[in-house]
Amino acid sequence: MLLSCTRLSVAYGARRALNALDLSFRPGEIRALIGPNGSGKSTALQALSGLIKSAEGNTEIDGRPIASMSRRQLAKHLAFLPQQPAAPDEMTVAQLVRQGRFAHVGLFKSYGPRDEDAIRWALESTGLHDFADRSLRELSGGERQRAWISAAIAQEARILLLDEPTSFLDIGYQVEVLDLVHRLSREKGVTIIMAIHDLNQAMSVCDQISLLDRGNLVFDGDPRVLAGTGLIEQVFRVKGRFVPIASDAPPHFDVELARR
Ligand SMILES: Nc1ncnc2c1ncn2[C@@H]1O[C@H](COP(=O)(O)OP(=O)(O)O)[C@@H](O)[C@H]1O
Ligand SMILES: [Mg+2]
Repeated sequence: MLLSCTRLSVAYGARRALNALDLSFRPGEIRALIGPNGSGKSTALQALSGLIKSAEGNTEIDGRPIASMSRRQLAKHLAFLPQQPAAPDEMTVAQLVRQGRFAHVGLFKSYGPRDEDAIRWALESTGLHDFADRSLRELSGGERQRAWISAAIAQEARILLLDEPTSFLDIGYQVEVLDLVHRLSREKGVTIIMAIHDLNQAMSVCDQISLLDRGNLVFDGDPRVLAGTGLIEQVFRVKGRFVPIASDAPPHFDVELARR
């Protein structure tokens, strides 16, 4: 396994946000992390990224505990885009994306051609080439989101953790981001772990799906199997049903809404 965690637990004060999580990820897979608000998705991604020092349990990359790695070493393996990333407003898109390369550029060294190529590729892949010199302040929410995705992929890590990368994006860019995720996985072998709210998007893009409920992993496996469990209705407290759409695609969840 490329990345795995065993009995990963996080508590905020007396409240347990993550309860003995066991997960493992294969190279190049797309994993969707789903669950209601507050179920622990962001906490799980942060803990897998080594950002929660008080986390209990063990997280390993290629069998090596991430706790034993420096930040720079870890950044070569793993890139993480948080749900609400923060950067100075006056920073430009190009500066943000350049920062994504920090793990590859040594202290006092300058950017080489490989770095410049990675930066150009990241800007182009997110449709931001013409925005390179704009400051983040001058971008719409969706453009800013793409700038962050661009910075994360410029890092060229083997593992990419994305916390709700499609929120704030219109449906056109949602599709573009999911398409980019798919290409990174299939063409570059990047392992993608992403928290995502849209269940049907999650079902159709992911190889494996993990469902969290109040900090507990209640399902982990094939999305088609999840569809047959009744867990979605139970965990999200909704009525609905899975309907088949095509023989080669997972079924769609049709949620029951109050009608006018
Ligand atoms: N920094 C924090 N301090 C205290 N409680 C937190 C913090 N971050 C998250 N929590 C709590 O932990 C639980 C899980 O949160 P989170 O991982 O953000 O869930 P999700 O991403 O699934 O919405 C929630 O009950 C939330 O209120
Ligand atoms: Mg979250």
